[in-house]
Amino acid sequence: MIGLVKRSGPPADLAAGIWRAAHRTERKLAACVRRAYDKAYYRLLFGMGIPFAPELSRKISALENRRGRGDVPIPAAAWELQYRGGEWAFLRALDQATRYSVICGYLQQLAPKGRVLDIGCGEGVLLERLGMDNYSRYVGIDLSGAAVERAAQKHHARSLFVQADAQTYVPDETFDAIVFNEVLYYFDDPPEVLRRYRSRLEPGGVFITSLYVNSERIRAIGRALKKVYRALDEVEISHDGDRWIVTVFCPGHGGEPVRNLAKEAPGCRQDEEEVGARN
Ligand SMILES: C[S@@+](CC[C@H](N)C(=O)[O-])C[C@H]1O[C@@H](n2cnc3c(N)ncnc32)[C@H](O)[C@@H]1O
Repeated sequence: MIGLVKRSGPPADLAAGIWRAAHRTERKLAACVRRAYDKAYYRLLFGMGIPFAPELSRKISALENRRGRGDVPIPAAAWELQYRGGEWAFLRALDQATRYSVICGYLQQLAPKGRVLDIGCGEGVLLERLGMDNYSRYVGIDLSGAAVERAAQKHHARSLFVQADAQTYVPDETFDAIVFNEVLYYFDDPPEVLRRYRSRLEPGGVFITSLYVNSERIRAIGRALKKVYRALDEVEISHDGDRWIVTVFCPGHGGEPVRNLAKEAPGCRQDEEEVGARN
């Protein structure tokens, strides 16, 4: 009996080792296939509506949402839990500060003392950073009631916080700047959401977006926006392995594909004046 046990040890270990190695290879292969699929899908198909096949479009979008990792729409109830659990408090940490500073700098230069709409405002960190003297009106909207409740504690005569889904919300006023700060990935069709808000921008107004660039989907969103709007300026922030891209878009030029960033242009207003003079 003892001899039997001794003889059966090594082959069992060997089999377990082979099984583990096979499992590792399978996992690596699956990750490889997934990366190749993501690259192909987000480079070739993302953002392409399939005409006359809404059901197929819906299925593709559902598959995308199932496969996404933090870069796809998240149900309102999950946001609620996260905010109530204090999971987004880190947005006030030092390593996030540069992103808000860049956005505030753009707002001060391109929409001085302007009217600002902050889509997906969360707990209103941007409003805290912007400073009272730098805007005439601030409206923040967010899907999460818990976030809006906390943000509204900072409420004053020139600010308003609304709990709403940005994909369907229609503001009843216009703005000089509309900010999408770390929120675009949570929309089914981000370019379509920007298109909806375009009519809420004053002539010469700007969209300011911030994207945390860590997935094919997020890179595809950035590319899709640049196909539709002129990017007036862009800054890349990198911090300890994390990377964000903050871009200013001139939607006045919507529809014209633009390849290069025009670093020299002082702002969208002058652009529109020039276009007006040419026409
Ligand atoms: C990463 S947090 C960014 C918060 C804020 N913009 C900031 O940077 O301080 C994303 C925010 O988008 C909000 N959000 C997600 N989907 C949304 C939707 N469909 N409509 C409005 N807000 C949404 C979430 O509730 C969350 O507050």
